[in-house]
Amino acid sequence: MRVLFVCLGNICRSPTAEGVLRHKLREAGLADHVEVASAGTGDWHVGKAPDKRSQAAARLRGYDLSAQRAQQVTRADFAAYDLILAMDNSNLRNLKALQPAKGKAELDLFLRRYESEIDEVPDPYYDGDQGFEQVLDLIERATDRLVIELKGRL
Ligand code: 4NP
Repeated sequence: MRVLFVCLGNICRSPTAEGVLRHKLREAGLADHVEVASAGTGDWHVGKAPDKRSQAAARLRGYDLSAQRAQQVTRADFAAYDLILAMDNSNLRNLKALQPAKGKAELDLFLRRYESEIDEVPDPYYDGDQGFEQVLDLIERATDRLVIELKGRL
């Protein structure tokens, strides 16, 4: 199984989701069975490490994002991944516009798929620290449910 998280810049939300899922897969003994990556619909931050604020907030909860580097999503990703999870509706619209007619990837809105009380992970880029905490809260909860789904699909 290959899972790709997508946000706008690939420096805040989707790298956080990548780090959280990797961690939870290791805890569940599934790290060798699922490949995880993240990408942005935009290209402004390609090659950069995750935002320092995302890294700091994640580190306090035990997730290390430091080795990640931003990349932009491509049409080829729809053939390479099984599941592509968008952080907000704008990301989902941009992905649908890029999606080839044929491609194995299932495309979905991350929080809606896992029945969160809100559908979108809010963009924290222009927010204070509280925004980064909320991103982690939402992502941790949905990722617990994603791990259950992945267990059932392996
Ligand atoms: P992300 O956050 O999509 O969660 O990585 C953002 C990062 C950068 C920008 C916007 C959102 N930006 O406009 O540069």
